[in-house]
Amino acid sequence: MGTSRRKFLGTLGAVSALASTQGFAKPFSIIKSLSISPNDKIRIATIGMGIQGHYDTKAALRNEGIELVAAADLYTGRLDRVKQTFGKDIFTTRDYREILQRPDVDAVLVVTPDHWHDKITIDALQAGKHVYCEKPMVHQINQGKAVIDAWKKSGKTMQVGSQRISGAVFAEAKRLLQAGEIGEINYVESNSDRFSAIGAWNYSIPTDASPATVDWDTFLRNAPKTPFDAKQFFRWRNYKEYGTGVAGDLFVHLITGVHHVTDSIGPERIFASGGLSYWKDGRNVPDVMVAILDYPKTAQHSDFQMVLRVNFANAGTINNNTRIIGTEGQIDLSGNGVVLSKKKLPKAPGYSGYDSYFTFSDEQQAEFKKSYDAQYSEADRKGEPVKEIKFTPPVGDDEHKNHFADFFANVRSGSQKTIEDPIVGFRAAAPVLACNDSYFQKKPIGWNPTDMKLKK
Ligand SMILES: NC(=O)c1ccc[n+]([C@@H]2O[C@H](COP(=O)([O-])OP(=O)(O)OC[C@H]3O[C@@H](n4cnc5c(N)ncnc54)[C@H](O)[C@@H]3O)[C@@H](O)[C@H]2O)c1
Repeated sequence: MGTSRRKFLGTLGAVSALASTQGFAKPFSIIKSLSISPNDKIRIATIGMGIQGHYDTKAALRNEGIELVAAADLYTGRLDRVKQTFGKDIFTTRDYREILQRPDVDAVLVVTPDHWHDKITIDALQAGKHVYCEKPMVHQINQGKAVIDAWKKSGKTMQVGSQRISGAVFAEAKRLLQAGEIGEINYVESNSDRFSAIGAWNYSIPTDASPATVDWDTFLRNAPKTPFDAKQFFRWRNYKEYGTGVAGDLFVHLITGVHHVTDSIGPERIFASGGLSYWKDGRNVPDVMVAILDYPKTAQHSDFQMVLRVNFANAGTINNNTRIIGTEGQIDLSGNGVVLSKKKLPKAPGYSGYDSYFTFSDEQQAEFKKSYDAQYSEADRKGEPVKEIKFTPPVGDDEHKNHFADFFANVRSGSQKTIEDPIVGFRAAAPVLACNDSYFQKKPIGWNPTDMKLKK
């Protein structure tokens, strides 16, 4: 650790004592963290210590030189759990602003429900912290610009959390596509179906959930004031006031993956349809949704359509994968790996079989054959045989750790160029949020992916 940093951290005790007396009501002061030399530890704090907060924190800590110093959560039981899991000396609080005041925190992980992402991210960047923010980056399309502006102004590193793109499977799919293995893309389909109560977001609710153990008012943020409801707090994904439905929760992973592989910046027209088919448990978001997204031609790819689907009541065969289809083959990605299948049409179209040829008179068939033979050589009649190449990720490939590794490497080098910076994050979040707009408004939504604005 550099001398200046050590000296600065010496003031920590006094500052945190001050912070703890300040409470939620008072405005908080901003203390910038120091720059981090390559040998320094990066000290992290997690804001939102629910399911993914635990997974993210553990993935971050699987990297060398990372230390968890603090955590915030609105449910007391989860603060107790932090100490049981990560150590009793971890500073815990219900008020994330106390974390932002601590000079010993270099980076924060924002792992709250979606409706808090933009606010905590912006506050953290303004407090001089690097930010790892969970997907979807924002809850509403109109929140994206402020996050990007705050990130640019801060000079800090930010990573959005669709960690799958940091795995070997997506790297291989990108390599294959860029090598021209499937020709020009024309269609992509990707789905994420489930068939279980937990899969449909009905997570367990602790028996001690009450207004005493949960800071319900803070949780609500700008949502309509409603009396305490443990179901809404612990199963927030089911309510559009806090979550972003299947689109923000799952389409966002699918679209981020496709953007990463194709180098796409996004669609220009989005239409979604769906309904609440099975989980009629008070939720106000659909459990089945299908979206069609039109991608314009760019320097990176031809124009193509993408169809996304989530079905939370799929009692049929579930085969969750992403298929990128081109004029010369297909790249099929799933958790198990990548399958590249290649085939190429011959130049000659062929005739006979289910064709009009047999309806011609004998004389005309003979004439047609003569003309066809003159037009096409033997070589023109041969297509490329179907070839299938399988890629299996190396054992132990840890996409979640890698996603954090990229974040931390950029923090250490003072760079803002993460694999999923807020521009990449927003270019995935906005179209999926537009799926929700399309579903609720029952109309297609126009999006300009270049300047990241809704079309009028
Ligand atoms: N990248 C992935 O694969 C992945 C997987 C799951 C979840 N996520 C994302 O992670 C986020 C959290 O999801 P989860 O499943 O962990 O939810 P969760 O309900 O299990 O945990 C959220 C926690 O945030 C806390 N919280 C809410 N508002 C807060 C605030 N203002 N300050 C501090 N804490 C606050 C809650 O008390 C709760 O414990 C979501 O945005 C979700 O989309 C990402």
